[in-house]
Amino acid sequence: MKLLSEKATCNSHGQDSSYFLGWQEYEKNPYDEIQNPKGIIQMGLAENQLSFDLLESWLGQNPDAAGFKRNGESIFRELALFQDYHGLPAFKNALVQFMAEIRGNKVTFDSNNLVLTAGATSANETLMFCLADRGDAFLLPTPYYPGFDRDLKWRTGAEIVPIQCKSSNGFRITKSALEEAYKEAKNRNLRVKGVLVTNPSNPLGTTLTRNELELLLSFVDTKGIHLISDEIYSGTVFNSPNFVSVMEVLIEKNYMYTEVWDRVHIVYSLSKDLGLPGFRVGAIYSNDDVVVSAATKMSSFGLISSQTQYLLSAMLSDKKFTKKYVSENQKRLKKRHAMMVRGLQSAGISCLESNAGLFCWVDMRHLLSSNTFEAEIELWKKIVYEVGLNISPGSSCHCTEPGWFRACFANMSEDTLNLAIQRIKNFVNSSAISTQAHSNQTNQNTNTNTKKKLFSKWGFRLSFNDRER
Ligand SMILES: Cc1ncc(COP(=O)(O)O)c(C=O)c1O
Repeated sequence: MKLLSEKATCNSHGQDSSYFLGWQEYEKNPYDEIQNPKGIIQMGLAENQLSFDLLESWLGQNPDAAGFKRNGESIFRELALFQDYHGLPAFKNALVQFMAEIRGNKVTFDSNNLVLTAGATSANETLMFCLADRGDAFLLPTPYYPGFDRDLKWRTGAEIVPIQCKSSNGFRITKSALEEAYKEAKNRNLRVKGVLVTNPSNPLGTTLTRNELELLLSFVDTKGIHLISDEIYSGTVFNSPNFVSVMEVLIEKNYMYTEVWDRVHIVYSLSKDLGLPGFRVGAIYSNDDVVVSAATKMSSFGLISSQTQYLLSAMLSDKKFTKKYVSENQKRLKKRHAMMVRGLQSAGISCLESNAGLFCWVDMRHLLSSNTFEAEIELWKKIVYEVGLNISPGSSCHCTEPGWFRACFANMSEDTLNLAIQRIKNFVNSSAISTQAHSNQTNQNTNTNTKKKLFSKWGFRLSFNDRER
């Protein structure tokens, strides 16, 4: 008799994706300037460590917030006992105001429509539980965040159908790509319940244009389906064009008193904008009362601790601080992004033009031995083991074109980023020498494969067995 459930033993969690495997490889041999200078540098983790000093300085000036105190008096007991799944009203108010601030106060949010969740991971899954039954589908533009396979599908049984976006137009969403995906879902006998976009995009680092947002709203309007906008990176937009939230376009295009108004749901989290993924703070914002009520009940399975809510309600209510933090953080991201783009450029590698996020979408198509996903994985393994950088291959983000990689730049020091860039440069130069040697030898009509020779010591260490561990 099988003693474990299908869920516990099925293989649909996605942990064997190269995205997560890269993390495992990094864990085995992490770079450290002193202890392990030849180790792997982690560029596969979209963490924001650039503005911790600002948060720490605020904590230093506001000892009550982190010390279970209000006006100097201990509120330890209140925090230890309180846990209503509706969340602390003060925190919800502070969070909706912060969300509005990030959107330039062009829109306002009602805290009654907000559901608190343990991060955007939980928010996205909860929305799936509210909007889709097992076997129903959501359409997602590619490339998309690899975690969605786990968050949207694994426990809910929902399906993802890709909206195929292409490099030829900068991976923009088009009407024909939306229609194609819808048709594909129908061909697979799946009921389409909605579209989910990430704005700004992970992994592209680009914001959706007004045109794209209008197109999406008109598409979900015509088809009678939902739109989820994961806006977890909304505060990371460091360059023009500015961030436009779907909420802004809903209002501008007079969807307020239509059915579409209730079918648009926003996901948010403080994991990226404040760099606090460990605090597990996320939210769903929806205009549909039934969704809000169901999601609130479901949030019992992933609440934010009252201690965290208390601390962050004090921090986010400090408007002077949030204003300074948001603008300074964006300045720092902009500088990092420029460093990364310039560094890669000097190695002959270009990035998709981007204005947001904690990563670049890097074009390494010219370094592939052939235009295939096998060649992409071959190159990725070289970059992990030989170059010592864990970046994420485009295939792990379901990109339809081989040769694109996501490389993160905000989870390390400037020195480490410079070292990473130097490592890439050395690799590209040695590959160029190898290619030159190869063509010289070909000219001499020899069959020696010099590329193979140069990389012989590397030898595909990531065997199938290694992956299973
Ligand atoms: C687009 C997107 N959504 C959701 C998440 C999950 O975030 P959280 O840490 O808030 O669960 C991530 C994390 O990388 C992400 O990139």
